[in-house]
Amino acid sequence: MQILVFPERKSLSLHAAKMFAAQIEAVPESVLGLATGSTPLGLYQELALQHREGLNLSGVTTFNLDEYVGIDPDHEASFNQFMKTNLFQHVNIPAAQTDIPRGHAGDLAAECSRYEQAIRNAGGIDLQLLGIGHNGHIGFNEPNTPFETVTHVVTLAAKTRVANARYFGAEPSQVPEKAISAGIKTIMQAKKIILLAAGEDKAETVAAAVEGPVTTSLPASVLQLHPQVWFLLDTDAAGKLSSNNPDLLRA
Ligand code: PGA
Repeated sequence: MQILVFPERKSLSLHAAKMFAAQIEAVPESVLGLATGSTPLGLYQELALQHREGLNLSGVTTFNLDEYVGIDPDHEASFNQFMKTNLFQHVNIPAAQTDIPRGHAGDLAAECSRYEQAIRNAGGIDLQLLGIGHNGHIGFNEPNTPFETVTHVVTLAAKTRVANARYFGAEPSQVPEKAISAGIKTIMQAKKIILLAAGEDKAETVAAAVEGPVTTSLPASVLQLHPQVWFLLDTDAAGKLSSNNPDLLRA
């Protein structure tokens, strides 16, 4: 594990974009695992800028971590819309090469199997982007999700619905109760993983994830077992790490 700490969000996003651009330039047909939430927004803006300056994403295939169950892909708070607005409209990834769990599918179990298989058929994920929830979730894998889980239907934790209420008129009861999420095993099968975290409110969770025990009660702690993972943090999110952590580098 490498932990890189940046003075602010902007330099964190720039570094993440450089890592994604390097992956795409080295392997134009890269399979990328993408995430939603506020933390990756700066990275997506930077990738859009790099595309305008010549970065070609036409060979890339993408899989998103998750989508709410029961909302239309056109719903303004769906992750489909999030991805269109914040990345896909600004780069040249063909729509047929982007996949997001179909939360509106009639048969959710079949959709979970389709999604997992689609990732395998694409050759697996080369580079996976993650955020981290206050409860340590990765994707929508809430605490106590078994590490062996593949793409599955999840019941969102109350804390997650409160955190995401900002996308649903600030009303937690409007946030769907369920979602489809790539599983912890699905995530751990990615060849490389980059987790982004910014802000003081994530500091305790980040410290527990990288320095605490590997436990299903804090899903992100499983990343300690992955051979190629980078935590990109701003100073605030790194605030509770021990200063002599051997994996820590300050940018
Ligand atoms: P955030 O979400 O980037 O909006 O904080 C992260 C997450 O819940 O995974």
